[in-house]
Amino acid sequence: MVAILVVAGVAALGWAYSGQYNVAADVPHWGLTSRALALVRDRSVATGAAGLTVPDLADRDLIAQGAEHYSEMCTGCHLAPGVTTSGLRQGLYPAPPDFSAGTSLRPAEAFWVIKHGIKMSAMPAWGSTHDDDAIWAIVAFLQQLPTLDANEYSALTAEPDAAYDDHEADEHGHEHNASSHDELTNPAAVDPGETTMEQPSAVPHVHPHANDHEHS
Ligand code: HEC
Repeated sequence: MVAILVVAGVAALGWAYSGQYNVAADVPHWGLTSRALALVRDRSVATGAAGLTVPDLADRDLIAQGAEHYSEMCTGCHLAPGVTTSGLRQGLYPAPPDFSAGTSLRPAEAFWVIKHGIKMSAMPAWGSTHDDDAIWAIVAFLQQLPTLDANEYSALTAEPDAAYDDHEADEHGHEHNASSHDELTNPAAVDPGETTMEQPSAVPHVHPHANDHEHS
């Protein structure tokens, strides 16, 4: 018995060493390998997500923040309404799912994957650069993504709070000034107490009408 195991182990090592296994991303796995990997991945994600407490994902501020993160960090691989292809995405194996078509993952599972990434795939662990609040914001946005058309998507990502702002913005025109827009459009400026207009000059989306708010 032991001898058989040793022989099998040596044979497996020899095969690995021979270089016969093709790791090329442009040659797909066998069907059985794909199913085995998918099973391991899905069970790992479900186990990792168990026990996570999901915040209120209908929160508009959260969705707006998530939209901004998504458009900056995810569309190159996962697409969006109106973003139907990318050079990066086309060569990836496994292929990243297209989230404009929705996801079968529960919110806690999506959170876990976004935070920790997936080994031996292109999916990064965003938790090494983003805190849990930012990741829940992305999860909140993912719930809305399949309901958006290209126009709604670009409105939400160009000026994240616009699509969800109603007449309140006008009623409180003076308080609702440029700084609140900047906090949403500039991921670096998330301090709610921050009221200065002096944002880093590199921020491309300080809108002309931000000044209208100030002077109206
Ligand atoms: C460089 C490409 C790349 C980027 C950028 C990327 N992902 Fe992924 N993502 C992948 C790949 C590839 C997979 C599939 C991994 C697998 O199936 O093993 C994946 C899988 C996922 C999954 C699991 C989907 C499922 O149904 O199992 C989620 C959720 C996810 N990504 C969210 C995001 C979010 C949110 C962002 C942006 C913050 C992001 N990803 C950025 C490549 C990427």
